Amino acid sequence: MSNAVLIEDHGPKWVVRLNMPERRNALGRAVVTGLIEAAERAAAVKTLRAIVLCGAGDKAFCAGADLKERQGLNQDEVRAFVTLLNQSFRNIETSPKVWIAAIHGACLGGGLELSLCADLRVAQRDAVIGLPEVRLGILPGAGGTQRLPRLIGMARAKELILTGTRITAAEALALGVVNRVADDHEAAAHALADEVCLAAPISVREAKRAVNQGWELPLEEALALERACYDVIIPTQDRLEGLKAFAEKRAPQFKGE
Ligand code: COA
Repeated sequence: MSNAVLIEDHGPKWVVRLNMPERRNALGRAVVTGLIEAAERAAAVKTLRAIVLCGAGDKAFCAGADLKERQGLNQDEVRAFVTLLNQSFRNIETSPKVWIAAIHGACLGGGLELSLCADLRVAQRDAVIGLPEVRLGILPGAGGTQRLPRLIGMARAKELILTGTRITAAEALALGVVNRVADDHEAAAHALADEVCLAAPISVREAKRAVNQGWELPLEEALALERACYDVIIPTQDRLEGLKAFAEKRAPQFKGE
């Protein structure tokens, strides 16, 4: 794996860090390939529960598409890159693990779109968040036009998408773009990850699947999906352990089985 994305192993938690601070962690080929590899590796590690996704350096979570690399690409290469970018984001969105974006500094364009694929978002107070693409002659092409309206509603999303305006962390919190604002974004993301690690792994995985896949379905189908996810949990040892621990008035010891 190249140095463009770093994995820090903290047992049940990983940190996946975009590592191109000199380009404000912009999304070029090396970073995107690194993200694909990180998501694939994460999915295969049974004991891993939650991932804190963050950026190196003190200036940016991610400044969006690598506009320097983009200058050297022809139209076909741009199309191929956008396809790769979307694949890498989708891998994170559909990951069996919980991804928590820890946002500081610039979180713009593809940076915000990347964070929208995480399950939760924590922003440092200094964060500057937005989708400036229309001011650059393009549009948010890594899911932003689709995921942001689903997250915060059509009117609020259109305001950000059609004006390209940049907002503060506090404004992002008020709009529902981020879950929390904190002085130390990474510490806050780790605290959330620790909470996830207390829960039963298969429950968390299936609950994420139910929420994500049910989101777009008619209610009857969505409820059937929820039942199917519940059915996966019924035979697990962890469900029995949860009941036993409750009866014995102790914390459960979940094994992901
Ligand atoms: N792609 C490639 N390089 C980028 C980049 C991007 N998206 N954003 C910043 N950089 C590079 C700059 O070109 C600069 O390189 P240089 O030192 O070789 O000149 C370096 O990162 C530092 O950028 P600078 O603007 O000096 O840093 P800053 O901390 O003052 O500001 C940003 C950071 C992110 C606010 C600012 O760079 C910016 O607005 N970038 C564009 C963001 C954007 O529009 N993204 C949407 C893309 S669709």
